[in-house]
Amino acid sequence: MPRFGFTLHATDGTARTGTIATPRGEIRTPAFMPVGTAATVKGMLPESVRATGADILLGNTYHLMLRPGAERIERLGGLHRFMNWERPILTDSGGFQVMSLADLRKLTEEGVTFRSHIDGSRHTLTPERSMEIQRALGSDIVMAFDECPALPADRDRIAGSMRLSMRWARRSRDAFGDRPGHALFGIVQGGLERDLRTDSAEALREIGFDGYAIGGLAVGEGQAAMFDCLDYAPGLLPQDRPRYLMGVGKPDDIVGAVARGVDMMDCVLPSRSGRTGQAWTRRGQVNIKNARHADDPRPLDEDCTCPACRGYSRAYLHHVFRAGEMISGMLLTWHNLHYYQQIMAGMREAIAAGRFDEWQAAFHALRAEGDI
Ligand code: GUN
Ligand code: ZN
Repeated sequence: MPRFGFTLHATDGTARTGTIATPRGEIRTPAFMPVGTAATVKGMLPESVRATGADILLGNTYHLMLRPGAERIERLGGLHRFMNWERPILTDSGGFQVMSLADLRKLTEEGVTFRSHIDGSRHTLTPERSMEIQRALGSDIVMAFDECPALPADRDRIAGSMRLSMRWARRSRDAFGDRPGHALFGIVQGGLERDLRTDSAEALREIGFDGYAIGGLAVGEGQAAMFDCLDYAPGLLPQDRPRYLMGVGKPDDIVGAVARGVDMMDCVLPSRSGRTGQAWTRRGQVNIKNARHADDPRPLDEDCTCPACRGYSRAYLHHVFRAGEMISGMLLTWHNLHYYQQIMAGMREAIAAGRFDEWQAAFHALRAEGDI
């Protein structure tokens, strides 16, 4: 069984490019992971997601434990078989989603009890149960069980939450055990407090993980504050392990994060905005609902090679959005995921060539503020 491993190929300033090897295939970094919360990237066939250039998807413990149930997925052959995606899958551990989605949450040292946002049923998640669920799903990259407050929060709350998450990280490591070919990532917390982030990173390095995530960002602090944190947070982590920034973000957030030393990211934005009529392009955002697209024969982006841009006008995309046709979300999601993967491929190439500064200047020069 080939082991999980990370090889760094090149660096340019603090930006890095490399490869994560897993038994289910390689992940080229910097990597963007489309979100497949409920065992589907909404509106896309898995082969289409692959065609955009994705090497790995993200799945969610929280959603899958509630519906259809982790043990059911296990009986059906695991999450890869169930959703027809045989490449790597990273699963988030559930605590973060409980805190943002579930009802009547109760947090204790042991874990968190809550009511399902779907049917009100009662559930408990602990580090041990989260590891068990992620094992049943067959996840390739398992996330430690953690918790974090929305920002702004007071320092005591952030510190207490970080220390609890570090105790849960230890329990996650113990419960995960030794599983060749599967990886366990720890999650750094600590809000925007540099000393707490430093303590958190040290605690995780002491335990030892296959990769390290930066959590607790993109929770309301804004880009400038997030970048201030990313100016030092990746540097607290081992050079020879992948670094994953959770839940980020807009195209310029992703580029800024990679420039600061992040290797992996995930976000619902390209798929979610595809369903609400928002397209992301090299020149900026396009709101396809806008009446000014009604007679426009041009594609979303003249230079994009995705099926939405090769085959359809803005006028058509506007029409199907207004008419509530399913193809609207499908085409815009495809375009958005394709554009995100083009950004990642461009960054990998530029970092490898030692031209990441020029690449970033060109990326920013093309972009307009607001709708184009
Ligand atoms: N997704 C976005 N941020 C976080 C975080 O801090 N922890 C977890 N587990 N998932 C996240
Ligand atoms: Zn396109």
